[in-house]
Amino acid sequence: MTLQTKYLLDESQMPKFWYNIQADLPKALPAVLHPGTLQPIGPDDLAPLFPMELIMQEVSTEREIEIPEPVRDIYKLWRPAPLYRAHRLEKVLGTPAKIFYKYEGVSPAGSHKPNTAIPQAFYNQQAGVKRLTTETGAGQWGTSLSFAGSLFDLEVLVFQVRVSYDQKPYRRAVMETYGARCLPSPSNETQYGRSVLAQRPDHPGSLGIAISEAVELAVQRDDTKYALGSVLNHVLMHQTVIGLEAMEQMQMADAWPDVVIGCTGGGSNFAGIAFPFIGHALRGGKRSRILAAEPASCPSLTRGKYAYDFGDTGHMTPLTKMHTLGSTFTPPATHAGGLRYHGMAPLVSHCKDLGLIEAAAFSQKSCFEAGVTFARAEGIVPAPEANHAVKAAIEEALRCKREGKSETILFSLSGHGHFDMAAYQKYFSGDLADDAYDEKELAMALSGLPSVPEPA
Ligand SMILES: Cc1ncc(COP(=O)(O)O)c(C=O)c1O
Repeated sequence: MTLQTKYLLDESQMPKFWYNIQADLPKALPAVLHPGTLQPIGPDDLAPLFPMELIMQEVSTEREIEIPEPVRDIYKLWRPAPLYRAHRLEKVLGTPAKIFYKYEGVSPAGSHKPNTAIPQAFYNQQAGVKRLTTETGAGQWGTSLSFAGSLFDLEVLVFQVRVSYDQKPYRRAVMETYGARCLPSPSNETQYGRSVLAQRPDHPGSLGIAISEAVELAVQRDDTKYALGSVLNHVLMHQTVIGLEAMEQMQMADAWPDVVIGCTGGGSNFAGIAFPFIGHALRGGKRSRILAAEPASCPSLTRGKYAYDFGDTGHMTPLTKMHTLGSTFTPPATHAGGLRYHGMAPLVSHCKDLGLIEAAAFSQKSCFEAGVTFARAEGIVPAPEANHAVKAAIEEALRCKREGKSETILFSLSGHGHFDMAAYQKYFSGDLADDAYDEKELAMALSGLPSVPEPA
């Protein structure tokens, strides 16, 4: 018997609409609040940061939003992305489970991030914007926005979290190849960056700090807007092309997932694969278990508080209700830079609060071990962030083995790790630490959460 390994869709089968989970949720998302007045904000409050088309997507409750044709044309450079059946991994694990993975590393940047970088650049260009500022943790998002900026003739300025800037010099080189400028954060370019450096000159940086720097510059100039690579509703919605394609491909494989898994930093690739399946169940279809895999060093979903908090460390963003470790929390300098964010997407947090998803935290070393097992079986070297999803999928497959169950597991392999080989080297030489976060720092960051009366 020959085994089918890849499930491929034709370009003509690529989704024409993004899926908006806000249409199907049993309870609406809590309001976003103005940081000064603590009152719900309106579209105009966000206008200095984002073009109106994206703001309207942020608050839309329409189930489907059409993907503009120029965006679909660019998506065709790598989409539809392949779905694989991990036959060899199943064999190595000796599991009766069927493991599928949706591989987003085929994009030019090497991850899922261009799925939202392209539409964000498109809508900004349409609105007459000339320059975009942003942050990047792993370097994947900065690369993706730089790529998108080059296609839409936009200047791009990226604040890369200091540890990641030092760990991955070639990410910066790729961003520069696309024509972007990349600075380590905290930087001397912004008032906020300078204030952080004054207190701690060797600060490793965090996504929360890099966001503050990018926002500070965006609001200073009319021709400049800010782009965020995760967390926001419209970003998560753009990523649903992952799950929508996966649904078609699972049907081609005559299978349906019992468990859907994604790693969670800000929540975008997880939402991308999971939200279409959650929506399917909310509309009366088969329910899958949905599992978020996060790092034990920055466990917002499993250890954070579901509360109103700032999206950034400098407190320039609106307040959203989310699972948070506190906006001043600086996670240890682990190698999964894309997962070092103090908060979680409000939509993912809301789904957790509603009991629609589960979450589990995994240590850095155990995730690298899982990534190496995966690479030796399937050939792809996953990004350190994606290793968290691999680890969770392996744990589920081993549970199936123990229980003698032949469940179907689907996970998002959000990116490759070709720029992360220094981290793999450290793992092989035994120098990779399981950095625990500082409990005292967490308690302090949580005690500093803004006090916000629950809106009516
Ligand atoms: C490959 C990869 N996976 C996952 C993430 C985490 O982001 P998100 O939770 O938004 O998918 C990142 C972030 O940079 C990433 O580069």
